[in-house]
Amino acid sequence: MYEQTVVLVKPDGYAKKVVGNVIGRFEAAGLDLIALKMVRLTQPVLDRWYAHHKDKPFFPDLSAQMMATPVVAMVVGGEGALGKVFAICGPTDPAEALPGTIRRDFGESKPKNVVHRSDSAEAARKEIGLLFAPEELFSPAR
Ligand code: PPS
Repeated sequence: MYEQTVVLVKPDGYAKKVVGNVIGRFEAAGLDLIALKMVRLTQPVLDRWYAHHKDKPFFPDLSAQMMATPVVAMVVGGEGALGKVFAICGPTDPAEALPGTIRRDFGESKPKNVVHRSDSAEAARKEIGLLFAPEELFSPAR
């Protein structure tokens, strides 16, 4: 099934200058770049983005970190894109990620794990709606 999912290069990834490398891995896997922009996240957006983490003790640190610099936000599409993007990024904790994944190659810790990616199709829909206007979404076929 053709799916769309969101990836953010987080402030730690932006500082490490791995944005091009991250995008290149999705393109090399045959995935489509549907949308791409730099954006400064705000607390109201993060309250909705991470609503499922709002009561976690790390939520204030997570929010502060995500607002420290702009992030690079993209929508990636393709057959089975959610699973492919998950595999390319690796799990949340870089220590548990396989060599060759983004988080293992560039991540330092759970908070500094370089990228965010949507957890599910439902999360992807929510995240696209929070950051992108319909006219900002493209397709290689159009
Ligand atoms: S949980 O509690 O297991 O559901 O959380 P986890 O999946 O490990 O992490 C969820 C997101 O929170 C970020 N995170 C943190 N940020 C700042 N400080 C601390 N201590 C911290 N712990 C986890 C983690 O990078 C995940 O962000 P995303 O954007 O989903 O990758």
